[in-house]
Amino acid sequence: MANIEFFTGENIPLEMHKVRIVQKLNLPPVEYRKDAMEKAGFNTFMLQNKDVFMDMLTDSGVNAMSDRQQAAMMVADDSYAGSETFTRLQNKVTEIFGMEYFLPAHQGRACENILAEAYVNEGSVIPMNFHFTTPKAHITRLGGRVEELVIEEGLKINSDHPFKGNFDTDRLRKLIEEVGPNNIPFIRLEAGTNLIGGQPFSLENAREVCAIAKEFKIMTVLDASLLQDNLYFIKTREESCKNKSIREITKELSDLMDIIYFSARKLGFARGGGICIRSEEDLKKMRELIPLFEGFLTYGGMSVREMEAIVVGLDETMDMDVISQGPKFIQYMSDELQKHGVPVVTPAGGLGCHINAGEFVSHIPQEEYPAGALAAAIYIAGGIRGMERGTLSEQRNPDGSEQLSEMELVRLAMPRRVFTLSQVKYAIDRIVWLYNNRDLIGGLRFVDEPKTLRFFIGKLEATSDWPEKLAKKFREDFPESL
Ligand code: F0G
Repeated sequence: MANIEFFTGENIPLEMHKVRIVQKLNLPPVEYRKDAMEKAGFNTFMLQNKDVFMDMLTDSGVNAMSDRQQAAMMVADDSYAGSETFTRLQNKVTEIFGMEYFLPAHQGRACENILAEAYVNEGSVIPMNFHFTTPKAHITRLGGRVEELVIEEGLKINSDHPFKGNFDTDRLRKLIEEVGPNNIPFIRLEAGTNLIGGQPFSLENAREVCAIAKEFKIMTVLDASLLQDNLYFIKTREESCKNKSIREITKELSDLMDIIYFSARKLGFARGGGICIRSEEDLKKMRELIPLFEGFLTYGGMSVREMEAIVVGLDETMDMDVISQGPKFIQYMSDELQKHGVPVVTPAGGLGCHINAGEFVSHIPQEEYPAGALAAAIYIAGGIRGMERGTLSEQRNPDGSEQLSEMELVRLAMPRRVFTLSQVKYAIDRIVWLYNNRDLIGGLRFVDEPKTLRFFIGKLEATSDWPEKLAKKFREDFPESL
């Protein structure tokens, strides 16, 4: 997204693409939305997409593809073994990340499973800037432990730190000395740190982390699923990188790593995933797990069409115009919401706009899931589907008590190149309306609570008749509008 100034002085992000295939959307009236939310057990995962106007649940597997990606999908070479498509993907990955070997997998968590199976044992400690749900689950499943070492600023909802995803390198060094380098199979660096609001790390910080790893002979693993946003922030926020191309920054970062894995549902605007490996020794540790868990070495559970789309998608990720769209839209949305007093995570990160539910509905106790309630209310107010990222997404403690989350956030993901600015403006408008009526929002309680990953399929109910009152107020304020 080039820097294009408007004569009138208006400061808005300008799309550097045009839309050539569209999908019709449906916006049901508020009364219907209230009923649909109730039927979905106040869980946005359980809504039917036909009832959703703006699907901001995630950026995973729902990014818009380019014409060149669609065209490439038509010439895929379909074969179980030795597919030319796979060779093209392997060559592209080697060109961009500079690593010789590549193992395909069906998505990001599949790479995490392979990595954990190959390197994690009972008692292993894996330092990372911050955990993500799926790698943590695979590490703990095998008796390993995660240590979160993000800098203090990373856990502050509001900060002006440009790289809130940075590692605290002092704590990293201390941890290594405490547990011993032999108990640390690898250090995991997560680009665009998901659970703290899509916050980036700097190239300089990655350099420091990898220098420490080298000193203690510990392997470095980059989760590059959200790399494209992180690249954008390195280029725009890190002084020493202003004049470097995205390709150069990617290569400099990759050169620091032993292994890079990614979900191609995010990186590369397609579906699938894979592990890039520098050494033959590491390749051999993981190679035979691919046919066991994923599929033969030349597809790893992916369709050849998706692999062709990734080849083009990775190339397009090296284009600043392409990767700017997400962060610029997120920045716009966060800024506009803030102008109206709505509390959001700052600075704006990648992935999506993160609303601070802890402050938005501060009258709701954490035990009544304020972020879950706000996500439900946002759907009722505008047909907009976001994702709860708070206590509801935590697992209960072994004694059955709630594990209260450090942050109560609602994530409104910005799938890349999917929404127009007027749709984003609509979302802002409905959230501002909701903020002005926030006293009407009440809490939630479980009626059906699964033991693991309860946020996916759990069913809840409102603790009072607040959804009716909210829908009624909407109808009073917008007598003629959907
Ligand atoms: N790593 C990061 C940083 C992720 O954000 C995700 C997925 C994964 C790994 C796992 O990849 O879904 O392909 O298995 N994040 C999605 C989200 C689910 O909505 O944030 P996957």
